[in-house]
Amino acid sequence: MNILVIHGPNLNMLGKRNPEIYGKMTLDELYDQISSEFPDVEFTFYQSNYEGEIIEVIQNSMEEPYDALMINPGAFTHTSIAIRDALDIIRIPKVEVHLSDIEHREPFRKIDYMTDVVDKRFMGKKLDSYIEAIAYLLNLGE
Ligand code: DQA
Repeated sequence: MNILVIHGPNLNMLGKRNPEIYGKMTLDELYDQISSEFPDVEFTFYQSNYEGEIIEVIQNSMEEPYDALMINPGAFTHTSIAIRDALDIIRIPKVEVHLSDIEHREPFRKIDYMTDVVDKRFMGKKLDSYIEAIAYLLNLGE
């Protein structure tokens, strides 16, 4: 299985960013953990702070042999109808992941434009949100 993993703004700051909320792991360490947990899965990791770049990566994924897409859109979760619309075009299984529990933080984080265009949301368990999301995608493929 080949999974495209997309991270949005400020997630390149993991490790330095609000560790009490997001944990101490850097984004590279997160990539390493995911890769070693699922050695048979091929991951393509991508991070951007720019909305348009993320949209283009989602659009271009249609030309690539990905089996699934996993996205943590960061704050774009709560603002970007454009990323939502790009995801809506993609026909492979899609999951949304968050390190923190966006349902139980500031009220503005409850607005999630992605939910209706992804197969499932995983949140609030830091690294384990990702592990659960990948396990879900693998089960779909069986
Ligand atoms: C986040 C939650 C978002 O509200 C926030 O803007 C982020 C990270 C998470 O992984 O918990 O950047 O997506």
